[in-house]
Amino acid sequence: MRKSVKIRKIIFDILYDIHNKNLQYQESLNYNTKSFVLDKKDSSMIYNISLNSMRNFFFINYILEKYLNKKTRLKIKILLISAITQILYLGFKDYAVTNDTVEIAKIKNLNPALINSLLKNIIKDRKLIDLKRLDYKYIPTWFLEIVESKKNFKKKNFFETISKEPSIHLVFKNNNFLSKFKEDHIKTTELSAFISKKNKIDEISNYSLGNWWVQDFASMLPIYLSPEFQSKKIIDLCSAPGGKAFQLFSIGADISLNDINQKRLKILKENLKRLNWKANISNLDVHDISEEEKYDVVILDAPCSGIGTIRRNPEILFKKKSPNFKNLVKLQNSLIFKAAKLLKSKGLLLYMVCSFNYYETISIKNNFLSNHKNFFHKKFELYNNKEFSKFIDKDGDLYCTPSEFRGYMIDGFYAVKFVKK
Ligand SMILES: C[S@@+](CC[C@H](N)C(=O)[O-])C[C@H]1O[C@@H](n2cnc3c(N)ncnc32)[C@H](O)[C@@H]1O
Repeated sequence: MRKSVKIRKIIFDILYDIHNKNLQYQESLNYNTKSFVLDKKDSSMIYNISLNSMRNFFFINYILEKYLNKKTRLKIKILLISAITQILYLGFKDYAVTNDTVEIAKIKNLNPALINSLLKNIIKDRKLIDLKRLDYKYIPTWFLEIVESKKNFKKKNFFETISKEPSIHLVFKNNNFLSKFKEDHIKTTELSAFISKKNKIDEISNYSLGNWWVQDFASMLPIYLSPEFQSKKIIDLCSAPGGKAFQLFSIGADISLNDINQKRLKILKENLKRLNWKANISNLDVHDISEEEKYDVVILDAPCSGIGTIRRNPEILFKKKSPNFKNLVKLQNSLIFKAAKLLKSKGLLLYMVCSFNYYETISIKNNFLSNHKNFFHKKFELYNNKEFSKFIDKDGDLYCTPSEFRGYMIDGFYAVKFVKK
């Protein structure tokens, strides 16, 4: 088998398993490349095509509507989504994609004649095809319901940017490192910036010096807008791979880190090593953390549906099933109830999720407050960052949807603070 066919077949298998077995991209990649040795070029081709196929599948489904009948097998559709992404969205050579896709169709018994003629027709019609024409029927209903439940929500605008690739946003240890940073960038605060070029992370200036880490702008805001955490005794309960913890290190907090997931903790440790920070790290289920030791600040960056990170993780919408919101909300409630038990009196609890779904955000806050009369809600302050007021909702909590900021892409994120009386 030609190498390019092998790679494109892996991409097909990855996409099919994400959709059908509800796997994350990384899980599906690991599973489908177990017996292959991939070089950097292969890995980046697989990543590029797979992620962009998932980012654009709802547009491509609309295109395919004209060419396919409704009963076409799912496997054929997935093979075509990947081929059309390469031809129309990524500019790969028409003949290379068509030949390899037809080869895969032969191997998998997926009607190669149909695939060949359909791709040829699409190539012939390419000038007439609107690449961003969206029919909402191709967006999963569960996601539309979340989006539509938001008042004054600019749905069209939101879906126009949802398929864009995420931007790279760096957070620096201090303003001095940022002011000496050589690459083209657009500052978001005195400590952070988007970089203009899409570099590989380890090729960005000063990577090995550990002057900065990668962290989304919206997810940086809760700690950035919490200077009261400085020099406090803090526990970050769900800390891996570490963005929020690194912000706390850089403001000189006395911080303990925990996470249940060993693989993610390994990444956290590698990050800490590069950044030259040493930490007290535990690997516990939050529910098992001793309540004897109390903290000034407890950070709960809870496991969630991740819908705020849809550009980074486009598989969320590509999977056949929706996230299990019922289980997630149950877990979020039980984690925040436990987190409250670890606070000193007058201590501060910060709850965060990379979601904008009501049930993982405002509903968790309301339920927490109605069950904890010994806590009160604390608003975020802007500290002269007036431009950031659009990220703070009417109750004073941080609430962003995936959107654009200064021409770059930012994630959706929610954060709320409570103080123990
Ligand atoms: C949103 S991520 C945390 C991101 C991290 N705070 C950062 O800034 O990079 C949620 C984390 O919660 C961890 N987690 C999930 N359930 C947990 C539990 N019961 N106890 C401890 N950690 C848990 C996951 O392993 C995951 O790393």
